[in-house]
Amino acid sequence: MTRIVCIANQKGGVGKTTTAVNLAAGLARRGKRVLLVDLDIQGSATATLVAPSPGREALSMAACLVRDVGLDDIVVPTSTPGLFVAPAGEELATVDLHLASVMGRERALERVLRGSTLDRWDVVLVDTAPYLGLLTINALVSAEKVLVPVSCEYLPMLGLKLFEDTLGKIRRTLGAPCEVLGYLLTMVDRRERVTDEVESMVRGAFGERVFPGIIRVNTRHKASPSHRQTIFEYEGPRGKGREDYETLTREVERRLGLGGARAKSRPVTAEALPASAHA
Ligand SMILES: Nc1ncnc2c1ncn2[C@@H]1O[C@H](COP(=O)(O)OP(=O)(O)O)[C@@H](O)[C@H]1O
Ligand SMILES: [Mg+2]
Repeated sequence: MTRIVCIANQKGGVGKTTTAVNLAAGLARRGKRVLLVDLDIQGSATATLVAPSPGREALSMAACLVRDVGLDDIVVPTSTPGLFVAPAGEELATVDLHLASVMGRERALERVLRGSTLDRWDVVLVDTAPYLGLLTINALVSAEKVLVPVSCEYLPMLGLKLFEDTLGKIRRTLGAPCEVLGYLLTMVDRRERVTDEVESMVRGAFGERVFPGIIRVNTRHKASPSHRQTIFEYEGPRGKGREDYETLTREVERRLGLGGARAKSRPVTAEALPASAHA
C-alpha cells in the first residue's frame, strides 16, 4: 500500500521544503520508491531536484489540477535513484482560484492521485506552500499523515495552535484522517536560548508526537539547493545534515511501519516509466 505523507505548516521558512527533499531522498536511498509531489507555488523542491526545461510547464502539478493531465505523465526522475518528482509549475499560483469553483474542490489532488498508477510508489511526500489555502487543504485531505516542521528560531505555539485547529476542522468537516506523523524540530542551534525554550515548549505540548531526532542549523542546507543537490549529494559522508536526515528517515520508516532498508521494493528505474516521463 502506498503511504501518502504531507509536509505542512502555514509558517514559511521552517524547513518544509528542505525536509521534503531530504526525507524523500533518504527514503529512496534506503530502497523505497518515492514520489515527491511539489504543491508549493514557489516550486523550490522542483528547482532543487530537476533542471528547468522548456515545455515543462505543460507537464506540472498545475496541469494535473487544472487541465486533468495525468499524474503519470508529468513524473520526472531525479539524480537520486528511486526518487521521482511531480513538478510544481508556475501556473500553480492560479490553481487556488481555479479550484474555488470546482465541485469537490478539497479533493482535487486526491482524484489526481487515485487516477494515477499509485502503487508504483511506496511513499508519496507532498510539499506544501506556507499558507492554508485550497491547495494546502487539498494536500492535507489527500494525506494519511502530516509531518510538521517547527523552526526553533522563534516561538511557534500560536501558529501551531492555528494549524492544529485547521487539522481538526478538516477531520470534522471533510472526514480526512490528517493524523500527525510527527512534529520535527528544525534549525536547532544550541547556542541560542530560544532553541531550548522552543524545544521544551513543543515537547511539553506534544510529547511523543515530537520526533526524538532534531535537524540542526547547518549552512549546507542553504547551499545545497543552488547546486541542485540533496544533502546526501552535497555533504561528505560524515556531514551533520545528512546524519540528521538519516535519523529522521529511519524514524519515519518506523512510524509508518515501512520496514528497514531491505524492503522488498526495488527502486523504480527511469526506464520503467512511461515515455512521457522522460520529456
Ligand atoms: N537546518 C537548517 N539549517 C540552516 N538553514 C536551513 C535549514 N533548513 C532549511 N534551511 C534554509 O532555510 C530556508 C527556509 O527553508 P525551507 O525548507 O525552504 O522552508 P519552508 O519550505 O518551510 O519555507 C531555506 O533557505 C533553507 O535552505
Ligand atoms: Mg517551501
